[in-house]
Amino acid sequence: MTRKRVAILISGRGSNMSALIEAAEAPDYPAEIVGVFSNRAAAPGLAIAASHGIATAVLAQSRFPSRDMFEDVMTQTLESWDVDIVCLAGFMRILGVDFVNHWAGRMINIHPSLLPLYKGLNTHALALADGATTHGCTVHFVTPGLDEGVLILQAQVPVLPGDTPEILADRVLVQEHRIYPEALRLLASGQISVSS
Ligand code: GRF
Repeated sequence: MTRKRVAILISGRGSNMSALIEAAEAPDYPAEIVGVFSNRAAAPGLAIAASHGIATAVLAQSRFPSRDMFEDVMTQTLESWDVDIVCLAGFMRILGVDFVNHWAGRMINIHPSLLPLYKGLNTHALALADGATTHGCTVHFVTPGLDEGVLILQAQVPVLPGDTPEILADRVLVQEHRIYPEALRLLASGQISVSS
């Protein structure tokens, strides 16, 4: 089995990154995590990745004159790792069209809502404000429209009396950690694909 080479893009905690790293440590998993990229030097996930012996890179967009130049260097970094698949895991920057198109069909994201509901930020507060009785998370292909690509997997959780955005986020996060490795497994093993 040839394992797909995967880079993970993070900006912070990196709990989804950790779930992917742990899944990929199984010998029969069809992907290996070869690098973790962060746009924030202070992202706690960087140290976790390094503790697993995974290459890390940090580039702050503010050090570049334009987003395009930042993203060109990001692509160079990913290609230096010979990456097949890119996983966004709490990467808090909106990506430009050229970058997204370069990785079309090879880049996926985890989003904490049942897309197409609640694109963007503050998904848990929005679900509560709506009186939703069900909430959840989605893994999807990344396309230029924010949180708009083809869906790969979703998981639902109940919204319970007394939930705060934080309590609900924790309940959703458990499911994120379950479906993201499963979605990457499907993509890396060729069981799903999109054509452009
Ligand atoms: C997760 O809720 C994910 O769905 C969203 O950003 C958060 C990242 O958390 N895109 P973590 O860094 O993976 O812990």
